[in-house]
Amino acid sequence: MSPSPQSNSNRDGKLVFPAHPTIPFIEGDGVGPEIMRSAQQVVNATVAKAYNGARSIEWLEVYAGKKAEELTGSPLPDDTLAAFKKYHVGLKGPLNTPVGEGARSLNVAMRRELDLFANLRPVKYYPPAPSPLLHPERVNAVLFRENTEDVYAGVEFEAGSSGAKSLLDYLKTTSPENFARIRFPDSSALGLKPISREGSERIVRTAIQYALENQRKSVTLLHKGNIMKFTEGGFMKWGYALAESEFSDQIYSMRQYKKICAEKGESVGNQDLQAAKAQGKLIIKDMIVDAAFERAIAHPEDMDVLVTTNLNGDYLSDALAALVGGLGIAPGANINFANGDAIFEAVHGTAPDIAGKDMANPCSLILSSVLMLRYIGWTEAGDLIERSLGQVIAGRNVTPDFACQMENATQCTTSQFTSLLIQRI
Ligand code: NAI
Repeated sequence: MSPSPQSNSNRDGKLVFPAHPTIPFIEGDGVGPEIMRSAQQVVNATVAKAYNGARSIEWLEVYAGKKAEELTGSPLPDDTLAAFKKYHVGLKGPLNTPVGEGARSLNVAMRRELDLFANLRPVKYYPPAPSPLLHPERVNAVLFRENTEDVYAGVEFEAGSSGAKSLLDYLKTTSPENFARIRFPDSSALGLKPISREGSERIVRTAIQYALENQRKSVTLLHKGNIMKFTEGGFMKWGYALAESEFSDQIYSMRQYKKICAEKGESVGNQDLQAAKAQGKLIIKDMIVDAAFERAIAHPEDMDVLVTTNLNGDYLSDALAALVGGLGIAPGANINFANGDAIFEAVHGTAPDIAGKDMANPCSLILSSVLMLRYIGWTEAGDLIERSLGQVIAGRNVTPDFACQMENATQCTTSQFTSLLIQRI
């Protein structure tokens, strides 16, 4: 039986979409409404053109953030989460999060509630977008950031609180050596960093599957295991172990290679790596994450598929975005690759400094919509948007964030950029 137009169905983690699916969206705070309008106009025009009316999207507005509070009294109503669960795929604008006090992040809450464990961040260059690199065309990385664990789990105790005191007392009695490492216990706020084997395995598995399906050359496990042996070090060890056991025929593990070299007393050369490449095997390697920041700038071509823990990924993804023009053009998605549920979103925040001025760059959300269209199998529409967007930027028609860094650029408002893109489509 084919699914009804109103219910995108999900069978064993495989999404099956009708020709006219319902897709819930959150407009978002700040620049959210401006870029959401732009992205939806572009998607609607493209789908109409690509499928000649045979396919279309039924957008369903659901609420979160300021608008939700005004309408329902809650910043994240249950109905919103229920809609994403029901329809499996959604689009989202940015949401405000107070810093240092007040409510916890709605983004983090949504990712946790829906168990969207993988944050997917492709980083690609569209010339002549502004870049600090000499050869930005060499950037073509895909970052998988674990989305549900790490210090982002939100297990924190305010300095001086009873929770902090109990935890300190517990450490003092059960683990005096750890207690002694806390420099100023009386005034310390405390946070926990849970990193599990299951959590590490599922994100590494996802990154490897993606790399194999997309004929990529390597997957690099990024971590800080030199300092945090059990959490970040665990992520690396569990990641290698999973790669070696589940994908043994398809991958070439640098960990195994280094072990063999050490046993033979040989230095680590690169002949075997070249052999692995010649056999078409996917290379699994690891790198300390701070070195990855340097590597991404000095040798961006070495950055292929990357997978890392939550906080590392948060920092690195924005740094990678800066290499190709900044937050305004970097797309993102939060996906549960086990059950197929996914929310596609602009990676930047609400940009309060430019909100309501028709100045925001809509490319981040438009390219997130491209990821969404490809995810639901509407590849022709996704390809048409990406190609046309590249052509508009190549024509040097760009929003102010790009125009102020480019020569001979024509500065466009958000609406003008959107119209030009739709004309091109
Ligand atoms: P931000 O990303 O909103 O802004 C940083 C800088 O980038 C600002 O100068 C802004 O004007 C610029 N910028 C961002 N998006 C742009 C666009 N589309 N076009 C042109 N310029 C753009 O980060 P900020 O200021 O740290 O955060 C503001 C709020 O957004 C905070 O409440 C934060 O928690 C929230 N936020 C929400 C996210 C989400 O919903 N996924 C992600 C990041 C931040």
